[in-house]
Order: sequence, then C-alpha cells, then structure tokens
Amino acid sequence: DTPRPLAGKRAIVTSGPTHEPIDPVRYIANRSSGRQGHAIAAALAALGADVTLVSGPVSIPDPAGVKVIHVERAAEMLEAVLGALPADLAVMVAAVADWRVAAESARKIKKKPGDKAPTLAMTENPDILKTVGHHAARPKLIIGFAAETHDILANARTKLDAKGADFIVANDVSPETGIMGGTRNSVKIVSRDGIDEWPEMDKEAVAARLAAFAAERLAP
Ligand code: C5P
Repeated sequence: DTPRPLAGKRAIVTSGPTHEPIDPVRYIANRSSGRQGHAIAAALAALGADVTLVSGPVSIPDPAGVKVIHVERAAEMLEAVLGALPADLAVMVAAVADWRVAAESARKIKKKPGDKAPTLAMTENPDILKTVGHHAARPKLIIGFAAETHDILANARTKLDAKGADFIVANDVSPETGIMGGTRNSVKIVSRDGIDEWPEMDKEAVAARLAAFAAERLAP
C-alpha cells in the first residue's frame, strides 16, 4: 500500500490561466497550460488529500480523483477558492491575470471604416493568493508560485510577506527556458529561512516532490 500522509486533509489548488473578456468574442489571456497545477492537484490526491482544483481554461484533461471547478476569469476563480475554504493547504499555481478590461463590452466591438483603433482601459484584478493568505480561515500551509523573467529570487522574497504565503515556488519563465507551456520545470523553493534549488525535472516530478514537501510540513 502507498502511504497516504495527506488522508483527511483538504487542499485547494489553482491552475491554468484566466481569460479576461474584452467583449463576447475576445479576451486577454496568457501562456499557462495548467500542466504544473494539475500535476500538483493529482500528486496531492495521490497522497490521500481531498483536493479541490480550481482551473482556468486549459486544454488538458481533469486529473482523476480530484474535484474540479472550471472558471474563466479571476473574479470567478476567487469566488470558487473562497467557496472551497476551509482547507489545510492551498497551492496557488494559476497564472491569474493581474488586470482585466475595465468596461467589458456587452456587444462585439465593431470595426467601422475610418474609426481609430480602440483603447482598452484596464483595472486591477483581485489577488487570490493574497486574499487567502490574509483570510480569517487561512489554510495552515500556503504555497504560492512566482513566474518571473527577471530578479526571480528578490521578487519571490517580497512576495512571501506581501501575499501571506509560507513558501513561494519561483521559476524563470523567460521564453528561452521553455517552461511556460512546456513539460519540464526548474524551481527554487523560497521561504523566510532560505532557498532550496531543485534540479530541472518533469512537471509531474516537481508535483510529486512538492506534495511530499507539503505532507511533511502538515505532519503533526
Ligand atoms: O504577483 P504574482 O502574480 O507574481 O504572484 C504569483 C502568485 O500569486 C501565484 O501563486 C499566483 O497564483 C498568485 N496570484 C493570485 N491572484 C492574482 C495574482 C497572482 O492568486 N491576481
């Protein structure tokens, strides 16, 4: 029998991008595939956790043995995450859009001859990790991600406090790494006590190791 150290523990995982509508046919998105977040949800379930995965629009299948809530925009992701509380553990992997279009058009924005190109005014989205990190029902263990192209470690350290997270998994998503949308990942686990650099491995292997890491920290 495989050990199930997370049996009886509730986990929330966010994964994938968000789509922020411009009008009924257009949206703003990003390159997140959901591979890393989905793999983490599956790995936590494999260790016995009761997992709710809140996923933005992705083209990969729902992981087996996990409750999946499909959402489109950040506001819906926040609502689904808050609805899944209380939990022992939250792993926020989703690449949530920082901004959405301030005034979403109810009708398709039409191009008319002679018109200037439209200007899209943006407004800030809610920060889901930060909301959960400062919530009255804050999970005991919160792991966030930091996808950065520069100043990775400095940004991750700042994020720990700003977001109320226990750990930030930092990765370099510069285009030349092939990480965003790819199958492999190279991560650094940043906590208030220091940094642990993991070798490059498949996203499934990162997920398994992160699930074991979480189980250790939630052990009585
Ligand atoms: O600030 P930044 O977007 O780099 O933070 C990344 C971390 O915060 C990730 O864990 C991501 O899932 C989470 N996040 C969030 N809601 C947002 C923005 C980021 O949960 N609106």
